[in-house]
Amino acid sequence: MKRRGILLLMVLALVVLSGVGCANNTPAPDTNNNNNNQGDVQGNQQQTPKDMNVAQIIYDQWKGSAHATAVEENDPENSPALREGGGCFKCHNGYGFELNPDTLEGIGILKGQSCDTCHTKYGHDLATSGSVEIPLGTIKGGKGALCIACHNGRGKEPDQVKAPHHSVQTDMLLAKSGAEVEGFDYSTHSHAGADNKCLACHMAADDNTIKDHTFKMNKENIANSCGRCHDFDSFNPTARDDFDGDGNKEGYQDEVKGLADMLEKTINEKLGDKKFESSHGKIVFTDAQGNALDAPPSEEVYNAAWNLLFVRYDGSNGVHNPNYSVQLLQQSYKLLTGEDVPNAKMK
Ligand code: HEC
Ligand code: HEC
Ligand code: HEC
Ligand code: HEC
Ligand code: HEC
Repeated sequence: MKRRGILLLMVLALVVLSGVGCANNTPAPDTNNNNNNQGDVQGNQQQTPKDMNVAQIIYDQWKGSAHATAVEENDPENSPALREGGGCFKCHNGYGFELNPDTLEGIGILKGQSCDTCHTKYGHDLATSGSVEIPLGTIKGGKGALCIACHNGRGKEPDQVKAPHHSVQTDMLLAKSGAEVEGFDYSTHSHAGADNKCLACHMAADDNTIKDHTFKMNKENIANSCGRCHDFDSFNPTARDDFDGDGNKEGYQDEVKGLADMLEKTINEKLGDKKFESSHGKIVFTDAQGNALDAPPSEEVYNAAWNLLFVRYDGSNGVHNPNYSVQLLQQSYKLLTGEDVPNAKMK
C-alpha cells in the first residue's frame, strides 16, 4: 500500500513537472505496475509493458472526460463550481473538494475534478479509508467512497416540490430515494455489493493493467468489467423478460428506456395541456399558458415525474440497479393508471 502511494505521488509530481497541461514533449515516467492487482477479484497478473507511458495515457483519458472541466466553466458567474449556496462548490470545484472547507473563502479557482482532487487530501483520505459520510448515512464503498462523496442524490427525497439532482447514482445503486409506493416490496440488487462499488465497472483495469481514467464505461474493456461476473459482451444484454410490454425481450437498457418513455407519455396524458420540467432543483408544472402551478396536479403525477427523472439522471438505463429501476417505473405507471403495464412481466 505504502509503496503504491509513493509511486503514485511520484507519478503525479512528474505529471505536473512535465507540464502535461501545455506540452507533451517531456517524456513522463513509466510506472511498471507490478503486482498492482493483488487482492483484486480478477487477479489479473498481466503487467504493464515497460515502454508504455502510463502517466500520459491516464492524462489523455482524463483530459477527454467530463471531470476535466467544471460544469459551465465558460460562465463562471453561473458555474456551480463557484457557488456557495447549496454547497455546490464542494462537488463541482475540484479544489473545493480537496480542501473540504465550509465556505468559498480562499477558493477563487474554477476547476473540475483533476488528478489532485482524487489523489490528494480529502479525496485521498476517502479512497484510503473506504468510508464516507453522505446524507444517506455512512457508506462503506472501498475506493468507491471517493466517487460516492460526489455522485449521490444530496439527500433529496420526493416531497411534492423538489427534483432529483443529476448525481443520483449512489442512491440508485443502493435502492434509495425513489418515490416508492406504500406496501410494495422494492428489492435491492447485487451490484451494490461490487468490490469498490463504482470502480468495479467504471475503472476496470485494461489488458495492460491501466485503471480506466475515462470514467465512462468503456466498451473495449467490457471483459474486465462486466466480464468478471457475467458472460455477455454488451452493456445492454438481453433481458430475461419483457418489462415494458412491447412484445419483445430486448436489451435490459432498452427495456428500461421503453418503460421510461411509456411513463413519460402516461404523465403527459394525465397532464393534458399542462407540462412539467425540472428547473433549478424543482419539478415545475405549468399550465397551458406557461404559468407555474402552485402545487403539482396530484401526488401520483409528481411522484411519477420524480421517478422518471431519477431513472434518467442515473444515466445507466437500469444497469446500476436493474430491479429498482424497473420497479420504480412500473409501479408509477400502475399508480397513475390503476393497472399493470399491459403485456409486461411485472418485477
Ligand atoms: C454532492 C455533490 C454535488 C453537489 C453538492 C452539487 N452537485 Fe451538481 N452534480 C454533481 C454530479 C456528480 C453531477 C454529474 C452527474 C452526472 O453526470 O450524472 C452534477 C451535475 C450537475 C448539473 C448538470 C451538468 C450537466 O452536465 O448537465 C448541474 C447544472 C448541476 N450539477 C448544478 C448544481 C448546483 C447549482 C448545485 C448547488 C445548488 C449542485 N449542482 C450541487 C454533484 C453535486
Ligand atoms: C475522479 C477521480 C480521479 C481522477 C480525477 C484521477 N484519478 Fe487516478 N485513480 C483514481 C482511483 C480511484 C484510482 C485507483 C484505482 C484502483 O486502485 O482500482 C486511481 C489510480 C491511479 C493510478 C494508479 C494506476 C494503476 O493502474 O494502479 C495512477 C498512476 C493515477 N491514478 C494517476 C492519475 C493522474 C495522473 C490523474 C490526472 C491526469 C488522475 N489519476 C486523475 C481516481 C482518479
Ligand atoms: C469532486 C466530485 C467528484 C468526484 C470525487 C467524482 N466525480 Fe464523477 N463527476 C463529477 C461531476 C461534477 C461530473 C459532471 C461534470 C460535467 O458534466 O462537466 C462528473 C461526471 C462523471 C461521469 C460522466 C463522465 C463523462 O465523461 O461524461 C462519470 C462516468 C463519473 N463522473 C464517474 C465517477 C467515478 C467512477 C468516480 C470515482 C472514481 C467519480 N466520478 C468521482 C464529480 C465528481
Ligand atoms: C455493475 C457495473 C456498474 C457499477 C457498479 C456502477 N456503474 Fe455507473 N454505469 C454502468 C453502466 C453499464 C453505465 C451505462 C453506460 C452506457 O450505457 O454506455 C453506467 C453509467 C453511469 C453514468 C452515466 C454516464 C454517462 O455517460 O452519462 C454515471 C455518471 C455513472 N455510471 C457513475 C457511477 C457511479 C458514481 C457509481 C458508483 C456509485 C457507478 N456508476 C457504479 C455500470 C456501473
Ligand atoms: C461484481 C460482480 C458483477 C459485475 C462486475 C457486474 N455484475 Fe451484473 N449482476 C451481478 C449479480 C450478482 C447479479 C444478480 C444475479 C443475476 O441476476 O444474474 C447481476 C445482475 C445483472 C443484470 C440483471 C439481470 C436480470 O435479468 O435481472 C444486468 C442487466 C446486469 N447485471 C448487467 C451488468 C453489466 C452491464 C455489467 C458491467 C457494466 C455488470 N452487470 C457487472 C454481478 C455483477
